[in-house]
Amino acid sequence: MRTSVIYLFVFCLIAFSSCNQESNKVKLTNEDKTIEKKIDDLLSKMTLEEKIGQMNQYTGNGAATGPIKAREKDIEDLKKGYVGSMLNVIGAENTREMQKLVMENSRMKIPLIFGLDVIHGYKTIFPIPLGEAASWDLDAIEQSARIAAIEASAAGIHWTFAPMVDIARDPRWGRIMEGAGEDPYYGSLVAKARIHGFQGKSLKDDGSIVACAKHFAAYGCAEAGRDYNTVDISNRVLHEIYLRPFKAALEAGVGTFMNSFNEIDGTPATGNSYLVQETLKGEWGFRGFVVSDWNSIGEMVNHGIAKDKGEAAMIAANAGNDMDMETSAYRDSLVSLVKAGKVKEITIDKAVRRVLRIKFQLGLFDDPYKYCHPEKEKSQLLSPEHIKAAREGARKSIVLLKNENNTLPLKIDVRTIAVIGPLADSKIDMIGGWSAQGEGKDAVTLLEGIKTAVSSTTNILYTKGCDIWGDSSNTFKVAISLAKQADVVVMAIGESGTMSGEARSRANINIPGKQEDLVREILKTGKPVVIVLMNGRPLTINWLAGNVPAILESWFLGSQAGNAIADVLFGKYNPSGKLPVTFPYAVGQIPIYYNHKNTGRPKVDNINPYCSKYTDIPNEPLFPFGFGLSYTTFEYSTLKLSTNQMKMKDSLTVSLTVKNTGQSDGEEVVQLYIRDLVGSVTRPVKELKGFRKVMIKTGESKDISFTLKSSDLAFYTKDMSFKAESGDFKVFVGTNSDDCKEASFSLTE
Ligand code: GLC
Repeated sequence: MRTSVIYLFVFCLIAFSSCNQESNKVKLTNEDKTIEKKIDDLLSKMTLEEKIGQMNQYTGNGAATGPIKAREKDIEDLKKGYVGSMLNVIGAENTREMQKLVMENSRMKIPLIFGLDVIHGYKTIFPIPLGEAASWDLDAIEQSARIAAIEASAAGIHWTFAPMVDIARDPRWGRIMEGAGEDPYYGSLVAKARIHGFQGKSLKDDGSIVACAKHFAAYGCAEAGRDYNTVDISNRVLHEIYLRPFKAALEAGVGTFMNSFNEIDGTPATGNSYLVQETLKGEWGFRGFVVSDWNSIGEMVNHGIAKDKGEAAMIAANAGNDMDMETSAYRDSLVSLVKAGKVKEITIDKAVRRVLRIKFQLGLFDDPYKYCHPEKEKSQLLSPEHIKAAREGARKSIVLLKNENNTLPLKIDVRTIAVIGPLADSKIDMIGGWSAQGEGKDAVTLLEGIKTAVSSTTNILYTKGCDIWGDSSNTFKVAISLAKQADVVVMAIGESGTMSGEARSRANINIPGKQEDLVREILKTGKPVVIVLMNGRPLTINWLAGNVPAILESWFLGSQAGNAIADVLFGKYNPSGKLPVTFPYAVGQIPIYYNHKNTGRPKVDNINPYCSKYTDIPNEPLFPFGFGLSYTTFEYSTLKLSTNQMKMKDSLTVSLTVKNTGQSDGEEVVQLYIRDLVGSVTRPVKELKGFRKVMIKTGESKDISFTLKSSDLAFYTKDMSFKAESGDFKVFVGTNSDDCKEASFSLTE
């Protein structure tokens, strides 16, 4: 008797301490405490099977985003309450039907949470995330996520598997299109903006959906840019670069995380206790839940870390993975694993607590059908204000890469314009990858946008000229003849919308097919040519950059692509985008990024052969991080520092004046970088630490200032403590990472 009482006491102590440990990082509100009590009550009544059901997610057939399996037993499991979540169930009507299966048949009547990849819009599609990041307009980014949430929730969705916050320095990796590029500081701010947009002020509010920081972690560092490939990086790089946006997501209150497919240093993320238990839930105090990626639990067998799905389930559950997307490993194995003592029931309880916590926070227990109203769905999708926001967001995402002889902007009353290229009138490509319920039919193509923008007297000629892929030049002739008749030629070339995204790595990142050959032939006509690039990743466009007078980077801009590009082409909007990712000069430079280390033999001239360089190509990228031109020009003054000796406890103000020295009003993204010259570990030659996107009218100037605190200078030092170290620093402010004014200061204790 005594022994069991002692065991019971110890068990309660552990249970209390583990719950307490979970919450000791976060100050619980009264509402939080009420929810915890409700969860206690539910857990006390649930069978082990019902608990494990909450850890189980099946896919509907609304959109296959992975290797889909047909399982007839899903309906039975739903009725028994053995399913906690469904993904890819589309529409208010369908989610209502699915929810009814659970609410009208299961014993515990715990509502399902419906998830979907709402990555850059639900029905109204915004620019792909990499393109949106090029706007450097955090308000616009938040707004687009808000609109996506409003439309998705109107269609029954409670949970989006976004934002993807993976830092990517390798454009061969197709999923670079889904994130915010290569910089952890900017990527962190974009992550916060997207989460605030999706989740709103409270998850309970109408129109809010819970967000998901993915893919945890370092997925973008896959060797050779090959999707799902091995990741082997130092713990320092993991924390300094790849975990930063995830930490920011947590600080922004993100409700869920999603594991990544890759291993890190020998352990798959889905079974990585250091990542999930120790770091995310322990050190960082995360109180939401972690969902695996599609079958990533089952794929631990392929990784060779588990002999079968049962062992994979054990590893994942014990590592802190709370929900199983599409493996059925938890459904099939956890009961027996608990009974065999290989997974403790307290582990199940902790996972289920997290899932139920989010469902309570979403208000699903108050109203399981809160988002199941078809009439609301109809009214919200593709509403005029959403379309307007999509056009504004798309315009801001366009980056002017080149504009020789002021080729742009074009005149709306141009006599004849030839519109050529395989992407000039392709609706489906405008919405890019991961476009949820977006449809090509709702997208405006470049040709359509130009037709709307130009004067009634303008003669528009159009032909595809060639395919995106393929080696035929048979249709060049028609394109050449149209170009000869035109005063200006606008060419839409690049990748198809599905050449980037998941499982879309490319070893060569050139313009596919015969498109560049077509440009060469059109240039021979001597007509002014404007290239509108459409792509989901940086491309090696050296020849274009060297031979074409004007180039716009337009990514895949979504439903309003054509109108947005036309707004820029004809000067209705002065392009203000800046690259959130480096454009390599050659694929051989990859990984290439601005915040690189100096090395012991930095290349400082073209004379010394014994330095870190190539013998066949330059070190420099084609276009650097932060690059983007305008129809006007800006002049930066020298920098003024409030002090050259900054104490650790103080701050330092960097001031300058930026003047619009051109002929049109324009927005400039003024960027601030620092360099820590000497540290206990080597430090990057530049690190972005601030930016301001400012409108400056022609002929006017704007005084701009940034405040640096020692916390802005913190990094993972030799012993991995995160802090600033005293010493000498440089500060840079400029129009891109390669073109800055600089000054120096010292940081002292
Ligand atoms: C996919 C993706 C992930 C997505 C999930 C659900 O495999 O890796 O980003 O959220 O499956 O569609």
